[in-house]
Amino acid sequence: MFKKIYFDSLPSTNTYLKENYHKYDNKDVIIAGKQLQGRGRREKNWITEAGKDIAMSILLKPKVAENISLLSLLTSAAIFNVIKDYGLDAKIKWPNDILVNDKKISGILLESVYKLNFEAVIIGIGINVNSTNFPTEILNKATSLKRELSKDLDIDTVINKVLKSFASYYGQYEKGENDYIKVCRENSAVIGKEILINNHKVRVENILDNGNLLVNDGNKSFTYAYGEISLENIY
Ligand code: BTN
Repeated sequence: MFKKIYFDSLPSTNTYLKENYHKYDNKDVIIAGKQLQGRGRREKNWITEAGKDIAMSILLKPKVAENISLLSLLTSAAIFNVIKDYGLDAKIKWPNDILVNDKKISGILLESVYKLNFEAVIIGIGINVNSTNFPTEILNKATSLKRELSKDLDIDTVINKVLKSFASYYGQYEKGENDYIKVCRENSAVIGKEILINNHKVRVENILDNGNLLVNDGNKSFTYAYGEISLENIY
């Protein structure tokens, strides 16, 4: 099972695990009460309010590095389920942002560790739970469970729900099943929309079983294995 290991404070749960993964087991989860230098994708900062938001990283040590990118979609689906269970109209912005009312409520930073060989995968999860003091520059782009539900939630309860959903999908992943892709498809913020991906304007047609995004530029269809999507007003 997934074992939770709590720290009062860490610079970044992902950075900590990158440096210390050899001390931990497959499925250990590092959780920081206070994350001081949280990292987002594209070298951005990830801000969490101490004791109010989730900053955690799941360590996985699969034998091979095959299909690792599918773990982004799997994690997105797990977080989506929990947010939806709170009654919110959540959407998944491929591959790994969760939005509520077009605002980002959760982000995922998936990092692989290689030495001579593939060693581990670290799945960093940030979920805005009880924070309400967003910096002005992201006030219209970010939200939290509290902002949407107008009530405080117990952080550990939310963590347990996410890990439960993650564990169930990860069991499927190990067997080669992929219900989580269906969840990402059916609750996509981008399928059928015009988007900018890596600065190309395209229309999103689908998410394929290998996790790639199928798009069309007006002339032809092609796929992206990864990329940063821009939608108006969304980061
Ligand atoms: C993003 O959307 O840009 C990804 C944000 C990921 C944030 C989480 S919080 C826990 C883990 N530790 C980090 O430093 N980042 C990830």
